[in-house]
Amino acid sequence: MYLVTGATGQLGLRVVRRCITLGLPVRAFVRLTSQYELLKEWGAEIFIGDLQQPRDIQAAMKGVEAVICCHGSQLLSRAIQAIDYRATLDVIQAAQEQGVRYLTLISPLAVTGDRQQSPFLKAKYEVEQVLISSGLNYSIFRCPTLMSSLLPLAERFQQTGVYIVLGDPQHRLQLLSPDDLARCILIASQASQPAIFSMAHPEVFTRQEIADRLGRFFNRRPFVMTVPLSVIDGARQFLGVMSRDLDASLGTLRTLLAYESLCPASEIERAQTYFQLSFESLETFLGRYF
Ligand SMILES: NC(=O)c1ccc[n+]([C@@H]2O[C@H](COP(=O)([O-])OP(=O)(O)OC[C@H]3O[C@@H](n4cnc5c(N)ncnc54)[C@H](OP(=O)(O)O)[C@@H]3O)[C@@H](O)[C@H]2O)c1
Repeated sequence: MYLVTGATGQLGLRVVRRCITLGLPVRAFVRLTSQYELLKEWGAEIFIGDLQQPRDIQAAMKGVEAVICCHGSQLLSRAIQAIDYRATLDVIQAAQEQGVRYLTLISPLAVTGDRQQSPFLKAKYEVEQVLISSGLNYSIFRCPTLMSSLLPLAERFQQTGVYIVLGDPQHRLQLLSPDDLARCILIASQASQPAIFSMAHPEVFTRQEIADRLGRFFNRRPFVMTVPLSVIDGARQFLGVMSRDLDASLGTLRTLLAYESLCPASEIERAQTYFQLSFESLETFLGRYF
């Protein structure tokens, strides 16, 4: 039995779908408030719980062979400590106690960079360290922004022609298809050795180029609105004094916006060779939705 946490999220949905396609029994950990009907229709076993409750995690772990952690807090939520850190540690501990064979974590590429201003990156880094020394067999995937995160922006662009760039338009980034990632996660989960993969589609974009690419894709001239980092810094100075949580969240957003984390070509090559996969492009991904 595979246990997928965050099963209603962008990646979790795809991992569950992939399990079902491969004929692997899968249990989807969902909240009562989540939209989980689709998962049920596909044939996943539904476990209703809350990752902030360790006893829910222990109950969900019964009979599980592999755990795929796809849960996460929203970047601007207050739940980084509770979900990205505490709940992930509780999942690792429950997996150890139940003798689970394999556990997968997903981190941002930036996890190896400067984490000082970002509780989110610190949480991701610390749980990676715990997993590495846990004695469990594991894989850790370090990824850039998933292409599915662009879908709401692409939809708004299609309707209005407006694209909002947060931070420097010349900032470079990479993307990865969540469907490719789901495939790789399930292939890796069959392995008998721990592994850490950094992966991204090889193409490097600037933020401005993403707007241009959407423009070409939808055959519409982009109207790009830029929100400079100084606006986020101003908001942080003003709002941060009122709430520590908000200060922490804006610190994470600033770190992710300010620092470029690119996946080395050698790592991309290694991942594509290992998984025998050529990562899909942004256009191919968008073409399946629009
Ligand atoms: N998206 C990216 O660009 C990206 C890039 C690199 C790494 N990652 C990492 O990849 C993983 C998956 O990301 P994603 O974008 O697919 O996440 P997502 O779409 O934001 O989904 C998060 C999932 O976590 C669940 N969740 C949150 N709090 C919970 C709780 N208390 N109890 C149970 N479930 C809870 C949510 O359930 P509800 O439906 O109930 O809210 C949702 O299913 C995360 O660890 C993320 O940090 C993402």
